[in-house]
Amino acid sequence: MKILVFNGSPKKVSDTMRLTAAFIKGLTADATHEVTLIDVIDKNIAPCRGCFGCWERGDGHCVIDDDQNGILDLYKSADVIIWSFPLYCYGMPSHLKALLDRTIPLVKMRMEETDGGVVRHEALADFSKIHTVVICGCGFPDWDGNFDALRIQCRNCFGDPAVVCVPEAPMLNVPEASPLASALLARFEEAGREYAATLSLKGETVRSLETPMIPKEYYIRIVNGQ
Ligand SMILES: Cc1cc2nc3c(=O)[nH]c(=O)nc-3n(C[C@H](O)[C@H](O)[C@H](O)COP(=O)(O)O)c2cc1C
Repeated sequence: MKILVFNGSPKKVSDTMRLTAAFIKGLTADATHEVTLIDVIDKNIAPCRGCFGCWERGDGHCVIDDDQNGILDLYKSADVIIWSFPLYCYGMPSHLKALLDRTIPLVKMRMEETDGGVVRHEALADFSKIHTVVICGCGFPDWDGNFDALRIQCRNCFGDPAVVCVPEAPMLNVPEASPLASALLARFEEAGREYAATLSLKGETVRSLETPMIPKEYYIRIVNGQ
C-alpha cells in the first residue's frame, strides 16, 4: 500500500506524531508498504485564492505554482492518507488547513447529493480507494465539545474516516507518566495492525485510544502546578 502521512504539527518533536509513529509501526509490521511523510510546516503552500482556476484547468492541479501540486499527485495515488496534527482552536493548524483547502482541484464544480442528504462536489476521479485516518492530539483534558467541530469537518471532507482524538497529549512528555504513555503507544501500535488487516478501526479500539491517561481533575491540577 502507498501510505501518505501529513504531519501538521509545527513542532520538531510532536506529541501527536509519537502516536502516529506507533500507529504506522503497527500498520507496516506485517508487510512492506511505501510510507511518505510530509512535514507540512516545511512546505511552501500558499492559501487558496478562491479563483477556481483549478476547475477551469480540470487536470487535478492548482494554478498556484508551489509545493501543493506535487502533494496532490501523491494524494491521488495514495491508498491510505493519515492526517496527524494537534488541535488548534478546535480545528486543524492553519498551514494544514491550507493544504486541505487546496485539495479542491480534486473535485469538479458539479454537485451531487448523497443518500445521506450530504451535498458535495463530484470527484475528478474515483478516489473511493483512498482510506483516511485522522489522528489529533490536544492539550485539554477530555471535555464535551473540544473535538466536535473537527469531527464534523473530517466527516464532511473525508467521507467516513477513522478519527482518533487524544486528550492530554502533552502527558506523553511527562517523565513520571512514561508507563501511561508507553501503554497508550502500545495501543496505537496494535490499532495500526488492526487497520492494516481491516482498513478500519472498531469503535472499542477508538474508545481505548481516546481514553484519557489520567482523570481530568488530576490533569488540570498538574497543568496548574498545584
Ligand atoms: C495555537 C494553539 C491552539 C491550541 N488550541 C487547542 C484547542 O483548541 N484545544 C486543545 O485541547 N488544545 C489546544 N492546543 C494545545 C495543543 O493541541 C497541544 O499542545 C498538543 O499536544 C500539541 O501537539 P503536537 O506536539 O503534536 O504539536 C492549542 C495549542 C496551540 C499552540
